[in-house]
Amino acid sequence: MFHDPDFTPFTPRETPSFLAVSRNYLENYAPEAYRTDFFSAKGLWPFFPRMHYVVSPELIEELLVTRADAFRRDDIASKALRGPVEGETLFFSEGAEWKWQRRAISPAFRYENILALVPFFVRCAQAQAAEWRRLDDGATVEITEAMSRTTFAVIEKAVFGASENFDGERFIAALRPVLGSFAWRMLAVMFRLPPDWTPYPGLLAARAGSRFVHEATAKLLAERRARKEETRDILGLLLSAKDPESGRVMTDAELVANLHGFLLAGHETSAVALAWTFWLLAKDQASQQRAREEAERVAGDGEVTPETVENLVFTRQVLQESMRLFPPFAALGRQPREDTTLGPYRVAAKEPVYVLTWCLHRHEKLWDDPTGFDPDRFAPEQAKARHRYAYLPFGAGPRICVGMGFALTEMATIVATLLREFRFETVPGHRLELAPTFAMRPKGALPLRLTRLSRETPVTRTERQIPA
Ligand code: HEM
Repeated sequence: MFHDPDFTPFTPRETPSFLAVSRNYLENYAPEAYRTDFFSAKGLWPFFPRMHYVVSPELIEELLVTRADAFRRDDIASKALRGPVEGETLFFSEGAEWKWQRRAISPAFRYENILALVPFFVRCAQAQAAEWRRLDDGATVEITEAMSRTTFAVIEKAVFGASENFDGERFIAALRPVLGSFAWRMLAVMFRLPPDWTPYPGLLAARAGSRFVHEATAKLLAERRARKEETRDILGLLLSAKDPESGRVMTDAELVANLHGFLLAGHETSAVALAWTFWLLAKDQASQQRAREEAERVAGDGEVTPETVENLVFTRQVLQESMRLFPPFAALGRQPREDTTLGPYRVAAKEPVYVLTWCLHRHEKLWDDPTGFDPDRFAPEQAKARHRYAYLPFGAGPRICVGMGFALTEMATIVATLLREFRFETVPGHRLELAPTFAMRPKGALPLRLTRLSRETPVTRTERQIPA
């Protein structure tokens, strides 16, 4: 078990504060949230709807799994995210519309399709390694930025194959103000103001960014349609997706919305999860060395492959423990379709219910020493002894993350590839502050010091294409 004061980066407030909502809304969950099962709050102001918070695995199972049909996405997040995330996407669809989209999209994320992408995951990690190789030993890097570039390269290639006309750097730069606007948009919605028109810092940049990413995604789709070739990347699989019951295929609006959603959610979540993972390993050098030795064993003189990636067992445990302490999504929201109950509690239709993943993952009754870092919590025996819904970085039930297998395989490959070549250390004097918006981001930078180890990541032996 490894401890560090940065693993408890703020003190929960006894009474909620308006300022904390835009700074770090997690501060507003009182100490009680880490001990109880369920609590309700009137919101910060009398005219806010009453909100309910769930931190019990049994109630979570009821909400997300056994009675999932009785709830839809919560109104606050839906209104705040719609615009930056497009309406026709799987993420926002409900009922029969959601069922058909999920059926159409799921095959693209089948395990054999994900494994076929492992060489690309390696290549993207190697491109990052090549950049770092140019730095002096002991240089400081901003790990969140570096991982954003790496995971964006991954998702871009996995989704679209290659496109010469796509400017990934510009796309990421345009996304930054969009992602940064979420906390303000939530606040606007909570005040019943229109999030697209309420002034907040960075509104114009967020609007321009949103427009740019939408247009760039639509252009990519048009380009692919013009080329008329069949490919096995995610777009290719979506283009050929057909509902087995109705024969329906995806419209261009649905395709653009989902591609845009994958580019946005698929890279930001994995980027922050990887950044926290390297930062935690920089704190806990013993776990870093153990993961490095595993990577050496698994990859030998070559690289991680579709056949060996499964053997990165400890690396996956590290990733799971990292997403426990710093879950990329700190909360999941639902809205009852009508007045109902959850366990013994009454919940009105207008009252949203939130699963507080951050508090659940640090719950005093569910975890020994909840703020310590210990990847062995996820060793099979220990994991089996826990309630299945005590840990949910990817959600649960029918709406569980469709990209979960993709993200876990991608992240394990990237961690193993980079650990073999670099040692990661923390920068003295840096103190962590959180600034969660769309995902669990640190405030400002998350700096790490890099030292190059003697071995070099081997260059990919063959220039592979996405398997046809
Ligand atoms: C570490 C990486 C990731 C994390 C932690 C994560 C987390 C989540 C969570 C918690 C949900 C459920 C939301 C809810 O129930 O309200 C979700 C849904 C979703 N995720 Fe992920 N995700 C990750 C990576 C990805 C990737 C790589 C993709 C796609 C390329 C993706 C696409 C989606 C989609 C489309 C949904 C909506 C599914 C539905 O509503 O049926 N995610 N994700």
